[in-house]
This record gives sequence, C-alpha cells and structure tokens, in this order.
Amino acid sequence: MSTNAREPIGVIGTGYVGLVTAAGFAELGSDVYCIDIDEAKIDGLRQGQIPIWEPGLAELVEKHRGRLHFSTDLADALEHARLLFVAVGTPPTYSGDADLSAVHAVVDAMPASDRHALVMKSTVPCGTGEAIKRAFREQGKEGFRYVSCPEFLKEGSAVKDFLEPDRVVIGDDGDWAGDAVAELYSPLDTAVVRTDIKSAEMVKLASNAFLATKISFINEIANVCEETGADVVEVARGMGLDDRIGPKFLQAGIGFGGSCFPKDVSALKQLAGNSGYHFQLLNAVIEVNELQKRRVIGKLEKHLGTLVGKRVALLGLAFKPNTDDMREATSLVLSARLTAAGAQVSAYDPIAEDEARRLMPGLAFADDALGAVRDADAVVLVTEWDEFKALDLSAVRDAMAGQVLIDGRNALDPEAVRGAGLVYEGIGRE
Ligand code: UDX
Repeated sequence: MSTNAREPIGVIGTGYVGLVTAAGFAELGSDVYCIDIDEAKIDGLRQGQIPIWEPGLAELVEKHRGRLHFSTDLADALEHARLLFVAVGTPPTYSGDADLSAVHAVVDAMPASDRHALVMKSTVPCGTGEAIKRAFREQGKEGFRYVSCPEFLKEGSAVKDFLEPDRVVIGDDGDWAGDAVAELYSPLDTAVVRTDIKSAEMVKLASNAFLATKISFINEIANVCEETGADVVEVARGMGLDDRIGPKFLQAGIGFGGSCFPKDVSALKQLAGNSGYHFQLLNAVIEVNELQKRRVIGKLEKHLGTLVGKRVALLGLAFKPNTDDMREATSLVLSARLTAAGAQVSAYDPIAEDEARRLMPGLAFADDALGAVRDADAVVLVTEWDEFKALDLSAVRDAMAGQVLIDGRNALDPEAVRGAGLVYEGIGRE
C-alpha cells in the first residue's frame, strides 16, 4: 500500500463513517484533519480513545496517530485541506425522510472559497447535492465545489471494506474536485464509477434498497418453505449458484436491522413518494421485515402455549455479529413483544450489553450464554455471534428448564441441536 505523502483532507464528523474514512485515507498516505462539534469525543480521540467498536479501527488510528489530527475547529481543516469529506448523521424523521439538519449546519459553516470542495459521504436523498449547491449560491459561496462519494461500509468489516472496496462511486460536476477525489482513491485496486451527482446519490440508496429487498425476498421464501417442508438453506444454496443471483444476502432470518437498511429503504420510499411515485416494492420489503421479527412469537407460542410467566432467553442483541450497534436491532422488537406477552426475558450479548441495558432496562442480563439460558423455557438465537455457534449444546440443555431452541439466524446444525436433546426450530427449515 502506498505510503507516499498524498493530498491532505478534512473529515467532518467523527462517527462511524468519518473515523473509518479518516483512518483509511491516513493508511493511503494522507494527513487527515478530523473535525467534530463534540468536544469530549475529540478529547478522547486525541488520547487514542475510539468511541465505537469496529475490528481493526483502533489499530489503524494508533498506527497513523501522526497523520490524524483531531479538532473542534473547522478552520484547522480549511487551512490544511481543499477536500472536506462530510460524514455527519442523517437519521430518519417521523415522515421517513432523512433529517439533513447536520448536513446543512456544515454547509452553512463553510466560508466563501474558490479552493475548497465538500465531498458527501453521509447518505442523503437524491437531489441533496443540487440543494446544497443552491444554498452555496444563495450564500455567495458559488466557488465551493461539491462531490458525492457515497460510502458502502459494512459494520464489522468497515476497515476492510474501505481498503478493498467493490467499487468507488464519484459523482461530480466535471471540475477539479471530482478528479482530486479519484486521485485520493487511486492506490486502491478497484473499479471507479465516475458519474453525475444525482446518479451517485441514487447508486447508494438503490444498492441498500436492493440488498434489503434480497433479504426480505429470501425471508418470504423461508416462510413458504415452512408451509411446504422445503429447507430455505438448501434453496438459497441452489439459487445462489446462479451467477445472476449470487449467494450473498440470501440468509433467511428474523429480519434486517442496523443504521442503514431500515433508514435508507424508508428514505428511498419517501423520496419516491415526495416526487409522486408510489414505490410498491419497498412498502412490501419494510412490511415483510417487520412481520419477520414478530414471527418468532408465533413459533414460541406453538411450543410453549401462552407466554405468560414463561422464561425466554435471547442470545445476541446487536443487529448483527461483530458490532455493538443496537440501532433497529431485531432484539428490540422481540424483547418488547415478549414482555408485552407476559414472558420474562433474559439476555446475553458479547459486547452490546451496555447499550442494550440502556434501551431495554426490563431485561435480566447475564454474563455469558449459559447464564442467560439458565432455567429458560425457550432460547432464541437472535444474533449469530461465532461463540454461539460453538456452544456446548448439552450444557445448554442441562441449564434450561425447557427444551425449545429457536435458531433465528439458521446458524446452528439442527441435527446437533436435536442430538443434545433440544427441540430445534429454524427459519424456513425444520
Ligand atoms: C449495510 C450495507 O451492507 C452497507 O453497504 C451500507 O454502507 C450500510 O448498510 P450494515 O448495516 O453494516 O451495512 O450491515 P449488513 O452486513 O449489510 O447487514 C444488515 C442487516 O441485514 C443485518 O441485520 C443482517 O443480520 C441482515 N442480513 C444480512 C440478513 O438478514 N440476511 C443476509 O443474508 C444478510
């Protein structure tokens, strides 16, 4: 990997996307000026404290301490860098639109300049670039350039995704800024899609919506498999070998969560709706996902009858393995539904416990998986952490009061579970 001195950049927002982007460009040789309005966070980062759990990130930040500069003062970035990557939050509003107030705060804070460009990493609706350029013109800052460069980082493998991307998408107006962003990515061996700003914005939304559609599709196939006796794992294996379909994102389960899919699917649906188009497919993707989370309740009732007074253990709480992120996690809906149905819920997650305690104060948290399943009538595997795949199933059986194991991610071997004396039920397979 190139370590020659390269163009310095600014990164505004030191959240998940901002930090990974900053550390990634530092690895490619740039000095990076990271700006955040949160003083405590910046103080922590200066002392080497990484506010999120992401494999490889702390090591990369430590390795490039000399190149990573942390500040709350935007002027530090403006002085040293022409390209200012924007990586601030764009959470959903009640209407399902993206809340762009943090993005606009950044735009408003920019000075008039012929030397700088904003490079949008945050996920924004199609048309945001146009609105920002209009705001620049109204504010007398028409010299400021704008580039859309969406991120495709997956939590848990974000550092790898930055350094080994499937593609880099750069949408620009054909000026120096787009070329400068392309040059920054040039050490990476990857396809670079150069296009206009609106198309780049849409690539991001459409990619996430398509992946979410793929998941809801296989989840519906799983539900039909349950009716017909087919095994969705076998079905996905057979489908995935078709080059046109591909094997990824065909794992049936109890629904997708996270900071991106739910938000981006509803943002795209809303974006279409705002311009008068009714995006029927995405309505179904969202609804299937919500129902999928709730199907677990029916499975438990099938085995336990009423859930009143029953003890149910949840293994895994984060929205997926290798992250402590609880945003839109299936466990949130599941634990709320279980509690409402009168069950007593115990839980264990290898690293998401702190955030989970805050969000689900009524749960009994255990220090390990066996602690969570002790005296349980049923266990639900919610997040497929590796340590659950290696569980001593006989010890689980001995610790439990009942025998039901719902494998919400089809992560366990059904025969091994049954062999240990448990009742197995997966998603779309017996
Ligand atoms: C996603 C996109 O993959 C990434 O490109 C984008 O930048 C941000 O959103 P992330 O949210 O980190 O990344 O998670 P991802 O690994 O894509 O999984 C999302 C959800 O889908 C998880 O809840 C996961 O459990 C679920 N999922 C994924 C399935 O249920 N089945 C699958 O086959 C794949």
